[in-house]
Amino acid sequence: MTDTFIVAIDGPAGSGKSSVSKEIARRRGYGYLDTGAAYRALAWHVLERGDSTEDPSAVLAALDDFDLALGLDPDERRVSVGGVDVTTDIRDTRVSGAVSGVARVPAVRVRLNEMFRAIVADSGLEAVSIEGRDITTVVAPDAPVRILLTASPEVRAARRGLEMAGQDAAAVAEALHKRDASDSAVVDFFEPAPGVELVDSTDLDFEGTIEAVLAVIDRATGGSNGH
Ligand code: DC
Repeated sequence: MTDTFIVAIDGPAGSGKSSVSKEIARRRGYGYLDTGAAYRALAWHVLERGDSTEDPSAVLAALDDFDLALGLDPDERRVSVGGVDVTTDIRDTRVSGAVSGVARVPAVRVRLNEMFRAIVADSGLEAVSIEGRDITTVVAPDAPVRILLTASPEVRAARRGLEMAGQDAAAVAEALHKRDASDSAVVDFFEPAPGVELVDSTDLDFEGTIEAVLAVIDRATGGSNGH
């Protein structure tokens, strides 16, 4: 999509793609783009305007007035909307429960994808890891490295449960399942598209997953381009 070297990583909730994409960026000195954060920020913006994300016309109206700033530093990820720092707020359950509503509006996806390409192009960075649901297929289908990161539903629910300490395991599994079902109606992130490498982290710990992803990158680049 630009001269920037792109590592595209897709996967369902709880697959570990955020922590993995971020760690890859740290170790290799890449920028890191969390596209889910943009969908979350738009959902936050719709709610802040007093509207529901279930109302596509309200979502489109919010999109017209969506002033997003998204940082690419894996160690200092800042997300703001209209100058308001929403880095923490976009992770709360109120936004998580509302975000699928914005993600299923086709015009939202088109506009956010334009924003992602512009953010990468304007960054001037040599390399960026981008994570989401449709990065390998829609946002950066020509990326030299495209990976689908998966894990079994049980393992994903358990990892999410650890992140949301104190929450009932069955409730976490149920929320995860609901969001996957809703999100996968829009883009298929369970099956790798042709040419996309599948990394299944069900039986891997974090370090093992990082090594598996770095091996895919090194294989794709012949381990020689210094990225
Ligand atoms: O990865 P995440 O949980 O932060 O994503 C938030 C929501 O945004 C999730 O419901 C799926 C959606 N999303 C999407 O549809 N396409 C992307 N490229 C990234 C996220």
